[in-house]
Amino acid sequence: MREGHLLYAQSGGVTAVINATAAAVIDTCRRRRVRVFAARIGILGALREELIDLAREDRAALAALRHTPGGAFGSCRFKLKSPEVDRAHYERLLAVFAAHDIRHFLYNGGNDSADTSLKIAEFARARGYPLHVIGVPKTVDNDLPITDACPGFGSVAKYTALSILEASYDVASMCESSTKVFVMEVMGRHAGWIAAAAGLAAGGPDDPPHLILFPEIPFDEAAFLARVKATVARVGYCAVVVSEGLRNADGRFLAEAGSVDAFGHTQLGGVGPVVAQLVKSRLGYKFHWAVPDYLQRSARHLASRVDAEQAWAVGRAAVEYALAGHDAVMPVIRRVSNRPFRWTIEPAPLKRIANVEKKLPRSFIRADGFGITAAARRYLEPLIRGEDTPPYDRASGLPKYARLKLALAKKQLAAYSIADK
Ligand code: F6P
Repeated sequence: MREGHLLYAQSGGVTAVINATAAAVIDTCRRRRVRVFAARIGILGALREELIDLAREDRAALAALRHTPGGAFGSCRFKLKSPEVDRAHYERLLAVFAAHDIRHFLYNGGNDSADTSLKIAEFARARGYPLHVIGVPKTVDNDLPITDACPGFGSVAKYTALSILEASYDVASMCESSTKVFVMEVMGRHAGWIAAAAGLAAGGPDDPPHLILFPEIPFDEAAFLARVKATVARVGYCAVVVSEGLRNADGRFLAEAGSVDAFGHTQLGGVGPVVAQLVKSRLGYKFHWAVPDYLQRSARHLASRVDAEQAWAVGRAAVEYALAGHDAVMPVIRRVSNRPFRWTIEPAPLKRIANVEKKLPRSFIRADGFGITAAARRYLEPLIRGEDTPPYDRASGLPKYARLKLALAKKQLAAYSIADK
C-alpha cells in the first residue's frame, strides 16, 4: 500500500452515471494500491468524519456501481463559505483528513462543487497540509466550462430525445379525435443543453419536437401560440419541449417550485403544466403534459455508452492526477474530432471552472428561437451514441443494481455539529 489515502465524495444533483465515475475511482485506486474511502453524503460526511470504508465492501458490488444510478454514497447541496466565514469547517476538514491520513481528495460535482474543491485546496496549501484536491466533473445540466461535455449529460440527453420521440408516436396516433398538444418539461436550470438534446429526435422539418423553449430565449407568448396553432393545422398535433428555466421578457422564471437551495439556486419545476394550460386557455386544444423530473437524471436503463465511458474516464484520470501530484485541477474532456468521434482527457485549473455556467451558444439555437441548428446537432449527436444497458435479473425482470454496506471507518475525533458553527 502507498502512503496517504484517498477520499472520494459526491456532490450536487446526481446523474445516471456518477457511480460509474465512483467505480472508476475505486478500481484505479485498487490497481494503484491506494486505500480509498468515500465520504457519506458529500462534504457533510467529511465534516462529520463519516468515511465509508470501501475495503469492507464486496468487490462485485463495487464493480456493479458502474451501472447503478443515483449517488451510491449520498450527495448534498452544501455551500462552504470562505475560510474567513467558515473557518471552523476548514479546520475540521483538515483534522479529519489528518486523522485518516487522507492526502488526496476527489470531489465529484458541478460548478458549485468546483468552488468548494478550490477553497479546500487553497486552505490546505496555506496551512502546509499536503493534499491533492481534484474536482471531478458531473452534471446533467452540461453547464461546466472548458470540458466538451459533462458526464451525466449524454444520458439525460438520450433519455430526453427518446422520450419526446416515443411520446410523439403516441400523440400522432390519436390527434384527430383526442390530444393535440403534448408538453414535456426538462431540467437544465439556466442552460438549455437538455432542451436542445430533445431536438435530436427530429429528422425533418415537421418532425417532433416541433417547438423547443430554451432558458436562453425570453418567452414570447404570442409567437409561441401562433406556432402551436400553425403546427396543429399543418401536422395534426404539436409536441413541445420546455426547459424548467424558461423566463419571460423581464427575466422572471415562468415557474418556480418555491424553495431556494444552499447555493442560492431557486428550485425550478412546473413550467410544463403552465405552458400546457396556456395553450388550452388560448387555443382550446386538448393537451397532456409530462414532467420527467428525477426520472430523466436517474434513467440508467437508457444510458448513453459514450456518457458512461466518459464518466469512467474522468474518474480514472482524477486518481492518476492526484497520485501524480496535481492540485486544484479537474479532468476535462477535449473533443479531438467529430468523425470519427474521438476525445481525450486533460487537466484544467479549478480556478477557471468554479462558479462559471456555460450556456447554450446562440449559434446552437435556430434563428426563430424554437429549435436547434445543424451545429448543435453535430455537437450533441456523438454524446448520445451507443447503449450501456445494465445487466438484468431474469427472475425479477429488473436491473441488478449495486447494494453497498456503507460501513463507516472507526471515528478518531470528537463529534462535530455542523449547525453550531
Ligand atoms: O444538478 C442539476 C439539477 O438536476 C438541475 O437540472 C435541477 O434544476 C436541479 O438539479 C434540481 O436540484 P434538486 O434535486 O436539489 O432539487
